[in-house]
Amino acid sequence: MLNVVTVNTNPYEGQKPGTSGLRKKVKVFLQKNYTENFIQSILDANKESLEGCTLVVGGDGRYLVKEVVDKIIKICAGNGVAKLLIGQNGLLSTPAVSCIIRKYKTLGGIVLTASHNPGGIDNDFGIKFNCSNGGPAPDATTNHIYQLTTSIQHYKIVPDLVCPVDNIGVQTFKVGDREFVVEVIDSVSDYVDYMKEIFDFPKIRSLLQGSETRKPFKVLIDSMSGVTGPYVRRIFVSELCAGEGSVRRVVPLQDFGGAHPDPNLTYAADLVNEVKNGDYDFGAAFDGDGDRNMIIGRDAFFVTPSDSLAVLAAQLHRIPYFARVGVRGFARSMPTAAAVDRVARKLGKEMFEVPTGWKYFGNLMDAGRLSLCGEESFGTGSDHIREKDGVWAALAWLSVLADSGASVEDTLLGHWREYGRNYFARYDYEECAAEPCADMMRALEEKITAPGFLGSSFSSGGRTFVVSAADNFSYMDPIDRSVAAGQGLRVVFADGARLVLRLSGTGSAGATVRLYAEAYEPAEAGAEALRRDARQALRPLLDLALDLTQLQKYTGRERPTVIT
Ligand code: G6P
Ligand code: ZN
Repeated sequence: MLNVVTVNTNPYEGQKPGTSGLRKKVKVFLQKNYTENFIQSILDANKESLEGCTLVVGGDGRYLVKEVVDKIIKICAGNGVAKLLIGQNGLLSTPAVSCIIRKYKTLGGIVLTASHNPGGIDNDFGIKFNCSNGGPAPDATTNHIYQLTTSIQHYKIVPDLVCPVDNIGVQTFKVGDREFVVEVIDSVSDYVDYMKEIFDFPKIRSLLQGSETRKPFKVLIDSMSGVTGPYVRRIFVSELCAGEGSVRRVVPLQDFGGAHPDPNLTYAADLVNEVKNGDYDFGAAFDGDGDRNMIIGRDAFFVTPSDSLAVLAAQLHRIPYFARVGVRGFARSMPTAAAVDRVARKLGKEMFEVPTGWKYFGNLMDAGRLSLCGEESFGTGSDHIREKDGVWAALAWLSVLADSGASVEDTLLGHWREYGRNYFARYDYEECAAEPCADMMRALEEKITAPGFLGSSFSSGGRTFVVSAADNFSYMDPIDRSVAAGQGLRVVFADGARLVLRLSGTGSAGATVRLYAEAYEPAEAGAEALRRDARQALRPLLDLALDLTQLQKYTGRERPTVIT
């Protein structure tokens, strides 16, 4: 029989979950009891339902995942949890965790990831709690967890419990007079089974393989050495028979091979080059924990996440899952370009604009009002689970293309011809000093909410922009009426252009400033106006933004760290 030990501890400052869980440098998590405190606080926040419950545990394979899985096992055993479902070797993609929580109706899950942030001993780690709907905990829960971390006095642990997670199978332990079960599960199976229900795999397979009348459709899928490797192999190589040469970086590495596992034009540049220089019709990349995606077409034709969302919205009927369950509303985060809004209007669907963070979509989905949503930050997903889902997004695109027979580029051109084009760019200034950034936000908020700003006009690059709305975005959840205030400064212009400035909630050091610019070109503007280089099309707006925000003065930065 194993015994529960109560260990005295002291609170740490700053264990406040951000946009997506508690994310810090590995070395912060290595401090004595730092990780234990946070795990105990997650469990304490679920005190009422903890006894006898089941939780899912898994992570993206980065440095420290295995050690923390072991701590979670021991602390859960000490707190009356009845059962844990753990991915083999501690590996589960974020979408797979969501899928498994829902499938087995567990109380929730603990996800070990810092998403797209670099891994390794000198980089980032993270812990996130997901609720019984499979989605990231809402603000009320994460605030409660944070409160508990500020006063924690002890945690409960079973130090002598030895439970390896390398092999699939069930292990049963006697802890005091209770039974505690750990089931190590195949990381991929449940998720792959679900994808086969959602999509028509044989149809995608025949697209990829080609026929007598059609050339094979060649794909290149990049897991960026993150957790999606095993998922991508099983789906694209074993199920869809795309061939080993169709996948790259499919072995999860603790430090992602030293790369930044974030699928965008900067960090996935080598995929972009391979597609550009090779004979590929389609490319996709996913981030460390598998919830983000980037889609490109032949010659590396880039699909912005905002456009990807709009195209899928317009063509959702081509996906068997939606043909079956029907299409409800659409949603996007506030900074995401409003291309999907136009599709919603045309199709007569409800449209929601929420703050940045996938957790804000959950209530709408649970209430049956939301089918498809996305964010400019390379997140796309649907109500099939409660996380965004990278592999799902690639399969959704392939389903659309298999059904329409069009190329990626023609799909986009056709979309713009019908709806017009929302040009979009985001400038990131990473790891700036926090205080001047806060000052900049304050100054800009004052400026844009001052009397006279509404209706005022600005000239830039030969264009005139007239302010039609400006505020600090605040959101009231239509379902539970909770309010999230201070979600980003936005200035909307009469011609549909928008500027947004906000501070990232996912960084692990200093402040990261995000500047988002969007300009709308109506379909009538003609082919040339719809096919411009995005950055050129946005130049006047971006210049105006730098002037309005005084960003260079406050941050001391001449240019952004990353442009997406
Ligand atoms: C994570 C969240 C997303 C969010 C993104 C950017 O990926 O899951 O929902 O859009 O971070 O957040 P940030 O606060 O850094 O802009
Ligand atoms: Zn992620």
